[in-house]
Amino acid sequence: MNPTATFAATDEPINQFDLTGQYAEIGAELRAAVERVLNSQQLVLGLEGLALERELAEFCGVKHGIAVASGTDALILALHACNVYAGDEVLIPTLTFVATGSAVSALGARPVFADINRDTLNLDADDVRRRITPKTKAVIAVHLHGLAADMDPLREIARERNLPLIEDNAQAIGASYKGRRTGSLGDIACISFYPTKNLGAAGDGGMIVTDSAELDARLRTLRNHGQASRYISIEPGWNSRLDEIQAAILRVKLRHLPKWQKARQANASKYSDLLAGVKGIRTPVVPEGYEHVFHQYTIRSDGREALQKFLADRKIGSTIYYPVPLHLQPLYSSLGHKPGDFPNAEHVAGEILSLPMYPELSEEKIRRVAATLSEFAKL
Ligand SMILES: Cc1ncc(COP(=O)(O)O)c(C=O)c1O
Repeated sequence: MNPTATFAATDEPINQFDLTGQYAEIGAELRAAVERVLNSQQLVLGLEGLALERELAEFCGVKHGIAVASGTDALILALHACNVYAGDEVLIPTLTFVATGSAVSALGARPVFADINRDTLNLDADDVRRRITPKTKAVIAVHLHGLAADMDPLREIARERNLPLIEDNAQAIGASYKGRRTGSLGDIACISFYPTKNLGAAGDGGMIVTDSAELDARLRTLRNHGQASRYISIEPGWNSRLDEIQAAILRVKLRHLPKWQKARQANASKYSDLLAGVKGIRTPVVPEGYEHVFHQYTIRSDGREALQKFLADRKIGSTIYYPVPLHLQPLYSSLGHKPGDFPNAEHVAGEILSLPMYPELSEEKIRRVAATLSEFAKL
């Protein structure tokens, strides 16, 4: 394909994401699902939640799903169920959404950052190995932007050191690695249903999936005040339950997810075809054996700030996920890191830019975005 479209002042804005097309497609199904729950008046921990847990566990290729109130809660509860307590260390990538780190901090544990691979933007296993100490109690691999982390070497490290390997699968539901879906690649995985995620609720929600019956039983207790049976609590827990209305909505959307995933992948191939050879733009890397689900379509450019402004001036939205790696966040200033500590993450954070991406994004809009990028490249 040849990016030939030109910008006209009358062109409508292109948002970085847009949920209105999805709602137009399935609004009637969603409203029927909500009505079904309202009619039942079973609003918390009911049949919709149980069915969603079963369906999503099956989708991920594992035995158990435990629905919770958010992706952040999923991480906190999963860490706690893996016996991470105050003073322990948890290894995480420094380039991720802050929730990966703040979940560790919420338990009084300390996030220990590791650098990333510049091509995949995901954890560098060699760096993880270097940073393990006797206090390390778990490793969290984030599947950033919809691409799985390289899990084989991470699994190897976790096995050698007897550490639980947790997947932060907030961004990559449906992705696969060497023939297996994310969610089934570690000991336990955490999913977010934040509305803009590939599978998004009409509000907050999350799920933990695992093959372990033991973790499943503990997590069911932890999400509901530590109650092993009604009004009998065996340990301190949380209130972190998924509402039945959200579960019913998510069950409708889960049926559409494979089709939406294909649409995201087709959009990504169009972008990559149109942008091949555009000077100064690097398109996302998808290594052999990986299926990327393009939660984000993230390009790299060393003129990123000017490029983002150029797009914005032409009514094209874009976002930087994420501009400041966690080791340089004010939140973690007490950990004493300085610029230069994680060179790959810092370098990449200065170059990445996520373009408009959602299943309903039209070819005309993709062409306009690509044409604008190539116009910028010629300046
Ligand atoms: C990588 C990552 N981890 C964790 C979360 C937290 O999920 P939630 O917003 O559902 O709490 C998100 C998304 O928001 C995320 O992108």
